[in-house]
Amino acid sequence: RSCRILGAPIQEGASQPGCVMGPAAFRTAGLPETLAELGWDVTDLGDARPRDLPPAGEPDDRLRNLAPVAAWTEALAASAHEMARDCDLPIFLGGDHSMSAGTVSGVARHAADLGRRQFVLWLDAHPDLHSPGTTVSGNLHGVPVAYFTGRPGFERFPPCLAPVDPRDLCMMGIRSVDMAERRLIADAGIVTHDMRALDENGVARPLAAFLERVAQANGRLHVSLDVDFLDPAIAPAVGTTVPGGATFREAHLIMEMLHDSGLVTSLDLAELNPFLDERARTVRLMTDLAASLFGRRVLDRATGTL
Ligand code: ARG
Ligand code: MN
Ligand code: MN
Ligand code: MN
Repeated sequence: RSCRILGAPIQEGASQPGCVMGPAAFRTAGLPETLAELGWDVTDLGDARPRDLPPAGEPDDRLRNLAPVAAWTEALAASAHEMARDCDLPIFLGGDHSMSAGTVSGVARHAADLGRRQFVLWLDAHPDLHSPGTTVSGNLHGVPVAYFTGRPGFERFPPCLAPVDPRDLCMMGIRSVDMAERRLIADAGIVTHDMRALDENGVARPLAAFLERVAQANGRLHVSLDVDFLDPAIAPAVGTTVPGGATFREAHLIMEMLHDSGLVTSLDLAELNPFLDERARTVRLMTDLAASLFGRRVLDRATGTL
């Protein structure tokens, strides 16, 4: 099976600089080689860059770096659309989470070409559901989900050509939600397993139920993993840490189940800020999580048995 890797060194969506180094850190940690050792046919396409990248820091009324983030969205959507067509499982190395406005809308266009539904598993402390009109911080890594589900307010972005149905979205690990997002989750009917729900039910049952829905619909599945999904004690390299995140084993179990399902058709690794890491522990953990999703396992075992 084939995998193409694209670096998306965007940091204009976050308040703290450093995500620009994300793709280089993943390569230094050996991500491409790790996936090749697991039997994948891996091609590293290098890093994306918009053809015309407007300067960062341009004073915009309220929204930080709107013009460069819009340019990145357009460039990444075009690349993601092609990569979804040309390989079995594209990986996008972030970059802050505004990257997913481009990657998800791009892969969703390919799903639409195939006449299939695009499902999204959003693993994050945050729902990233703001629109440019509701964001409080002005940081555009807080808006990608609203963009790719076709919410209004994105006139200054490229049009979202194949919006994802919010009911085909599943969020896990959520524990920091702003007022406008809270309302939208309820109104749009987005399946959301917040941290309390994971405390009560674990990760396996909710995930199995979602994967069953994807399989029933013959859907395609994009997974977007934000570093801050993980507990800051094991993953410090992110600008927006929130206490009480997923544990090492919860995160690996999710990746192992995703692998066993055979349903995943694209992956984002988002928000890694290597400037904030401690002896590379976060980038190593994120690389190991990707390896679990690509089939690394402790022992051979029949799937689905206890
Ligand atoms: N909701 C907050 C905001 O809009 C935090 C967003 C954090 N997003 C992220 N991708 N880390 O600023
Ligand atoms: Mn996020
Ligand atoms: Mn197409
Ligand atoms: Mn987050």
